[in-house]
Amino acid sequence: MLNDRLVSYSGVQPSGNLTIGNYLGAIRNFSLYSEKYKTFYCVVDEHAITVRQNPAELRRRTYETLALYMACGLDPEKNTLYVQSHVHEHAELAWILNCFTMFGELSRMTQFKDKSAKHSDNINAGLFTYPTLMAADILLYQTDVVPVGIDQKQHVELCRDIAERFNQIHPNTFTVPEPIISQSGKKIMSLADPTKKMSKSDENANAVVYILDDKDTIIRKFKRAVTDSDTCVRFAEGKDGINNLMTIYSCFTDKSFEEIEREFEGRGYGDFKMAVGEVCADALAPVQAEFARRLSDKGELEAQMKRGAEEASYYARRTLGKVQKKLGFVKI
Ligand code: TYM
Repeated sequence: MLNDRLVSYSGVQPSGNLTIGNYLGAIRNFSLYSEKYKTFYCVVDEHAITVRQNPAELRRRTYETLALYMACGLDPEKNTLYVQSHVHEHAELAWILNCFTMFGELSRMTQFKDKSAKHSDNINAGLFTYPTLMAADILLYQTDVVPVGIDQKQHVELCRDIAERFNQIHPNTFTVPEPIISQSGKKIMSLADPTKKMSKSDENANAVVYILDDKDTIIRKFKRAVTDSDTCVRFAEGKDGINNLMTIYSCFTDKSFEEIEREFEGRGYGDFKMAVGEVCADALAPVQAEFARRLSDKGELEAQMKRGAEEASYYARRTLGKVQKKLGFVKI
């Protein structure tokens, strides 16, 4: 809570082209909180450098991610939109929280295990302590809810454990946050291997639908999506590809699985894939148009980054000051 208002906080890494997984699992849901909550949505560039980034691309994607937040309906007048590295309190609180996080806890993080397997030549300490930086992001703003996809649930749960541990030693320091996982889009799977999460870092571009893909590309990717040898559109165990396409269709149309099964009864996978491509492309078209408009005004984006950083810093400073005092750091 901040000033008697509940707080929603989330972040997205500017580490690749954003996917419909990022959109359906997270970004699209951020604006649900804009009216009732105090909301902070961050472009987490410091998280992105846990794997090597091309500096020019990181810079470009930081602007793009901010523009995409706005294109997805986040009004900067109602939401604090900012870039993580502009608020130095994140890195400072992360250090402090490192001292309240156990080696064993970090070793159990699934994402650390996956990423260290994938980047075995660069298993750096940042990759390992990534969840304490994420906890700092969340706890700096006395956050109540964290809307994320299911892959981030474990990190938010660790954040809760860290907050509770800190509060036990130094009472009433942090609000303990809840992860909010949207039921429908919590885990969108790869189109090429529907047992794997759709990921912006996938090397196979056909496995992933990007928010900025044009209509033809979107339809082509859905047409090629891996399914099964059955021909009936129904949600069932062992039909991972169709289940994933039904999930995506359901997210974009708000139809239930039963309604979708009825709609495509007696029709083949070809028709269904085409329909998924159409609804996806049509839903993304206005987002893409607004994105292009926002991105074309770099000056305005920079002004927004500055305003967002000033707003966020005010609250971040307050929480960090409180934490430092409780720990016994001398103020001068
Ligand atoms: P990131 O950048 O990997 O992903 C951003 C958001 O998109 C969700 N997501 C998905 N949801 C459904 N299906 C998918 N295939 C899919 N892929 C990604 C993620 O769950 C996430 O919500 N560590 C975070 C960023 C972060 C953060 C934070 C989040 C840093 N600090 C504080 C919340 C609060 C991450 O790497 O997300």
